Amino acid sequence: MNFSISLTVNGERRDVELHDPRVTLLDLLRERLELTGTKKGCDRGQCGACTVLVDGRRVNACLALAVSHDGAEIVTIEGLAKNGELHPVQAAFIEHDGFQCGFCTPGQIVSAVGLINEGQTDDDPERIREAMSGNLCRCGAYRGITEAVLEAQKKLTNSDRRNAA
Ligand code: FES
Ligand code: FES
Repeated sequence: MNFSISLTVNGERRDVELHDPRVTLLDLLRERLELTGTKKGCDRGQCGACTVLVDGRRVNACLALAVSHDGAEIVTIEGLAKNGELHPVQAAFIEHDGFQCGFCTPGQIVSAVGLINEGQTDDDPERIREAMSGNLCRCGAYRGITEAVLEAQKKLTNSDRRNAA
């Protein structure tokens, strides 16, 4: 039995035919839509490498069934830069060395964008660390990551935050 779903991915409508209802959103993005920026780390909801925004909320795409998100609006790391300019969170990660090998970085950045949009952390590094705790970094770049989120948060005005994704 086939399932047809329509998603808006990074602002573009994508119609996909699924042959198996068990396909995850992560595999759909990586293998069907060739958006390989979203990484597969653990494939079981433990590392956050696969974080994408679904209707503005942070989601582990490896735990999400694609068929459950028919009609959803998805933002992946590929959708953050606009008109050749990095998203402020991406720029802040570079400025603060918020990565080493880079494998966890797409998930970290998308998670940070979602976190800033949520507007729950103020300028408290401890709260940022807690709110980013679902995104693991085996290289231990946590200090730079927290600094990057703090700086990006400061740079983004409230209206920018609403439009950030
Ligand atoms: Fe999804 Fe690790 S790959 S949480
Ligand atoms: Fe290597 Fe985070 S930068 S796992």
